[in-house]
Amino acid sequence: MKILVVGSGGREHAIVKKLAETSRKPELYAVPGNGGIAKIAKCFSEIKATDTENIVKLTQQEKFDLVFVASDDPLACGLVDAIEKIGVRAFGPEKKAAEIEWSKVFSKGLMKKYNIPTAAYEAFGSFESAENYVKGGIKFPVWIKSDGLALGKGAIRAINVDEACDILKYIMQEKAFGDSGNSVIIEEELIGQEITVLAFCDGKMVKPMASSQDHKRAFDGDKGENTGGMGTFSPSRIYTPEIADYCMRNIYLPTIDAMQKEDRKYKGVIYFQLILTAEGAKVIEYNARFGDPEAQVVLPRLKTDFLDIIDAVIDEKLDEIGIEWEDNAAVCVVIASGGYPVKYAKGYDITGIEEVDKIDGFTVYHAGTALDSDGGFKTSGGRVLGVTAVDKDLPSAIKKVYSQIDKINFKDMFYRKDIGVK
Ligand code: AMP
Ligand code: GLY
Repeated sequence: MKILVVGSGGREHAIVKKLAETSRKPELYAVPGNGGIAKIAKCFSEIKATDTENIVKLTQQEKFDLVFVASDDPLACGLVDAIEKIGVRAFGPEKKAAEIEWSKVFSKGLMKKYNIPTAAYEAFGSFESAENYVKGGIKFPVWIKSDGLALGKGAIRAINVDEACDILKYIMQEKAFGDSGNSVIIEEELIGQEITVLAFCDGKMVKPMASSQDHKRAFDGDKGENTGGMGTFSPSRIYTPEIADYCMRNIYLPTIDAMQKEDRKYKGVIYFQLILTAEGAKVIEYNARFGDPEAQVVLPRLKTDFLDIIDAVIDEKLDEIGIEWEDNAAVCVVIASGGYPVKYAKGYDITGIEEVDKIDGFTVYHAGTALDSDGGFKTSGGRVLGVTAVDKDLPSAIKKVYSQIDKINFKDMFYRKDIGVK
């Protein structure tokens, strides 16, 4: 069996590793992949994840049996649709189902229409209308978000009218996030802890995975810029069975039902970003894929054969499979390039990866690494590595990860020292 995974981050490394452990022992390929993925899968690093035409050609040439579309951009480009069109199995939502991630105007509209709990908001398609709204005596703070994909940077908090106008200019006039800022939504601030719940979904049925929590800000104590995620842990301490039950009834099932009613059958992994407010859990956003670095703590805890679940999703038979999780905990600490997420250098030699990776209970996931000609690794992105430790509970896993992480080194690297503490 030949499987292609599309994407290049730590999440894709976690997916490829989990596939490598399945009982069918598939042959693995990646587009474009990264330095770590290249050790276990053949990478076509010259093809971009968004190059639908060449990925389709490659799939025909190589006769892949399955294409797993793991990252947001190719989902938004309709890669799943294109692969299905040539009669090959694809894992991930089709373009019109993935719109739940690539358009906030769509996803917020869906939640409003189907009474799914979320922050109150308004949507605007022009700078003037948005500016009038923020000058009209609204309550601050608000969150202003570009409609489309923006590498996790498209959500900005404004505490007063002046700030809000500056942010609107930045997104809608200066086009800081390109066309994704043609429309914006402006929403109330929600107060509470954030939780990520990923779920497998076959169009009709939704099966939540083990919960996790991300740390979005760059520095300790939730200081600094929002990033793609600086570290995760699983399970969440605050996601009780009662909250899980509330979410199933009020969020997960209603979302999948709503997508069916809108003729956008949702198949793949759906990512629920929740805030536990005093009024109950509310949706901050949906993503159409595994989280990064959530995948790096959730997948290591999955007991059931990953490929069996993938098949059940594609064949719409999730009801026939039981999904089991290890009774343990995982923590992932991201090591980033100095200056990330704003400006950073690439091309530095990395040492210590193998030394940590071989320790029992550790996995070093590669995100922004490239393999150099002598087999060593160099930095090639902002988030470089995700060091995951698995142990019997969270305190043990936290202690474990920080006891070894300093064995890894590259110039100007940094990581948060408080992952898992909240
Ligand atoms: P998003 O791009 O919608 O996931 O937002 C990125 C991050 O900004 C979230 O993970 C939250 O930490 C924060 N955020 C976004 N919207 C809100 C909101 N309405 N209230 C509080 N925090 C928010
Ligand atoms: N960790 C946040 C995301 O994957 O979107």
